[in-house]
Amino acid sequence: MKLSVIVLVGLIPTFAAGVIVQLDCARDLGEQIETAEVFSELHGDGSCTWYVSKPIKVLVPMTIRKLRVVLRSSEGIPMIKILARSVTMTEFELIGNNKMVAGTAREALVQVFKSAFHIARGTFRNSTKDGVQVRSIAGAPPITGGVLRDLVGRHNHRDLVSLTTLDGGKSLTRNIVVENIRAYGSRDRGAVEISDGVEDIFVRSVYAENCYYAVSIQDHGVSELETIRRVFVSNVVAVRSHFAVVSQVESIRHGDVSISRVIAKNCEQALELKNLDWVRVDDVRVIAASTTGYPVEIKNCKDLKIRDVSFVGGGQARGAILIADSTNVRIAGITLSEKTNVFFGITIFRMFERFQPGLQISQVDLNAATGRQINIRITPPHLRVP
Ligand SMILES: *[C@@H]1O[C@H](CO)[C@@H](O)[C@H](O)[C@H]1NC(C)=O
Repeated sequence: MKLSVIVLVGLIPTFAAGVIVQLDCARDLGEQIETAEVFSELHGDGSCTWYVSKPIKVLVPMTIRKLRVVLRSSEGIPMIKILARSVTMTEFELIGNNKMVAGTAREALVQVFKSAFHIARGTFRNSTKDGVQVRSIAGAPPITGGVLRDLVGRHNHRDLVSLTTLDGGKSLTRNIVVENIRAYGSRDRGAVEISDGVEDIFVRSVYAENCYYAVSIQDHGVSELETIRRVFVSNVVAVRSHFAVVSQVESIRHGDVSISRVIAKNCEQALELKNLDWVRVDDVRVIAASTTGYPVEIKNCKDLKIRDVSFVGGGQARGAILIADSTNVRIAGITLSEKTNVFFGITIFRMFERFQPGLQISQVDLNAATGRQINIRITPPHLRVP
């Protein structure tokens, strides 16, 4: 009688959560994951390391926990490909083969191709490319919905998190939340890349140290479908990096972008924003920027509002903020502390041939500028100092 009660209690939660499978440290990890049942929960014990030399495919919805995996291959290949919806991966450490790969073929450690993923509490190291890349498949429905949270990256060749599309934006990715992300030592890239036509992206609490950037908005100039729309970026700290937030864009315009609460400390520049329509920049602190140009540069933007940007320290720089070829610009609350060493406060360049209306500047304290506080130039582009 007592025995049957115990069996019953044991069965109910197992059924609700799917089959729980203890992963075997001595067996091939790929085989265990590739043959797992729908909605099963695969648990590592957190103490063993699997060495893999070919990509592992996740083929059905499942939860995978407590993995430590090292990629051992001289090729630039992915470690895990998520090819099913509703896959959760938590508590993991994935180590790439950056040191072993000589060629130019590089891939993310984890590639996500389907919707409704949840990847959290993990570390990615030494990837040949990204930690995790979310990218749709050609001709497939868009990737819609997914969470990337509590992730750390160290020495990845490219981004810790990369959100992108395929076929010049034809196969979409949208509604992704990226939260509590830390990247160290990605000198060529950074913590989060948002690229090529992704939409409805929420990025918050990002830290980047010794990277090229914390967050980048990018396109590859392939087609108008690469237009990125509706992006929120907030609570960003960049330390000893080149940029906190940067647009690395070609000719395509992107829009509806809100960037708030950014601190750039000992970075070359804080922000470089380009080709954005409707952009809000709010509450930026620039500490000891090392550029000799402008720590904040805005180029070719439209309907732009910049509010509460303060500068302290840094070397000798041409100016604090440069705004070029932008229309309908409102700037409020810019402060230069005594300890800055900038020549111009705000420099505005406008194209000679086109009258560009709508400039408002208010509530600024630019007394510490050693040259002109507000420097407005109307010049033909070919005469312009970039
Ligand atoms: C990862 O890269 C770092 C820095 O380049 C290196 O010191 C470390 O040995 C690498 N680790 C592995 C496991 O390859």
